[in-house]
Amino acid sequence: MKLFNAIVALALASKFTTAAYLAYSPIEVVAPVKRHIVSPYNITNSTVFGTKGSSGSFSSSTSSSAGSSVTVSSASSSKSDSCFPSNENEKLEAFTFVKKFWTSFINPTDDAEALKINSTYFTEDCKGRVSLTRDFEGDELNTEYIFGLFSNVFEVKFRMVGIPLNYTMLNFLYDDMKAISSVNVEFYIPQADFYIPIQIDLWFVLVKTNGYLQIAEYDGIFRNFDRAYEETNAYVQELIGEEYGSLYPNKTSLEIYTGLAIESICEVHQEYCLGENQQYSSYETCVAFLSTVRLGQGFEGGRDTIFCRNLHQVMLPFRPAVHCPHIGPTGGDMCTDTDTSYNEIVDTYSTYFDPLFISI
Ligand SMILES: *[C@@H]1O[C@H](CO)[C@@H](O)[C@H](O)[C@H]1NC(C)=O
Ligand SMILES: *[C@@H]1O[C@H](CO)[C@@H](O)[C@H](O)[C@H]1NC(C)=O
Ligand SMILES: *[C@@H]1O[C@H](CO)[C@@H](O)[C@H](O)[C@H]1NC(C)=O
Ligand SMILES: *[C@@H]1O[C@H](CO)[C@@H](O)[C@H](O)[C@H]1NC(C)=O
Ligand SMILES: *[C@@H]1O[C@H](CO)[C@@H](O)[C@H](O)[C@H]1NC(C)=O
Repeated sequence: MKLFNAIVALALASKFTTAAYLAYSPIEVVAPVKRHIVSPYNITNSTVFGTKGSSGSFSSSTSSSAGSSVTVSSASSSKSDSCFPSNENEKLEAFTFVKKFWTSFINPTDDAEALKINSTYFTEDCKGRVSLTRDFEGDELNTEYIFGLFSNVFEVKFRMVGIPLNYTMLNFLYDDMKAISSVNVEFYIPQADFYIPIQIDLWFVLVKTNGYLQIAEYDGIFRNFDRAYEETNAYVQELIGEEYGSLYPNKTSLEIYTGLAIESICEVHQEYCLGENQQYSSYETCVAFLSTVRLGQGFEGGRDTIFCRNLHQVMLPFRPAVHCPHIGPTGGDMCTDTDTSYNEIVDTYSTYFDPLFISI
């Protein structure tokens, strides 16, 4: 209930449109240019579900736009189970499960799924990895990262990654409790009113618990993420240059962009990392420390970067004790360089998964 109240309070106190400023460069901001600033709460169902679909028809409209899935999903609704050999039923069940998973990944359903704390999509000891960050173990952590990280549950001032708006299934393959899907997800950056599609490949090892499918292992790859990250940053920086350039004549767009990303992290820190969870003695200390940390490249979502800490900021309200260290000076066990050398990553993942995603 405490969590719920916090969400309501946050939703009401829309900080997003408040004047942005750079604390370490105290210039008074008169009125921010609002031309491109869109409140995240303008994301309505019609944006998410499209104008032609009726309510709740997201997954069917998605499947109708993807050639191969049409056959499968229409067959599934028009024929009884007995018409199919058991492996066909299994395939359909897995396909339905995977579509449901992706639908839950889309905002605002990801908000709801994130708030379940332990999503039933994951087994209790589920483990997986995401190419641009690192690996995640347990149902609670996976619920937070898979559904919470891109969600809009907690409003933050400045996010470097978008909110997932819709998806289109491109590829699907199933065999023997292994399912692979590849989808195009449309991401939306509210503060810039910017859309960018990213193709995500997701490998699942499924298990059946009490008759229901669950994810025991997953391997997620954001294809061409470096390029999506560059395109997004370039666009947002250009916008920032236009909007704030005259206020900060001696700062580059990149510096202002980094400053906003840092301020956002430090504001969330001040609100949620209290008592034993406190990482910085003050807002100013936080800003000063993070100003020495590199912004980071697209593959550095799990390294000692501003990018990593900005990704983690939305996680703090869920479990401050677990997540506050990630935005702190040490980066906790998430935003650090010590275990992420290229060779280490390659070596670790040659033995990480058990069972492997092999189906012969
Ligand atoms: C978004 O919502 C806010 C608050 O309701 C409103 O002031 C603003 O005009 C909306 N923007 C757009 C683009 O609809
Ligand atoms: C969005 O659509 C869902 C599913 O149809 C519905 O449950 C929810 O109330 C809608 N939310 C808003 C804000 O209209
Ligand atoms: C979520 O699951 C973890 C074990 O994975 C457990 O410790 C925790 O109490 C659960 N939380 C809720 C709210 O069910
Ligand atoms: C996803 O959303 C974007 C932006 O609103 C839109 O251009 C695109 O057509 C949508 N795609 C699907 C499959 O609904
Ligand atoms: C920007 O730099 C110029 C030249 O170094 C200096 O005169 C000016 O005061 C600076 N402006 C601000 C707002 O710091």
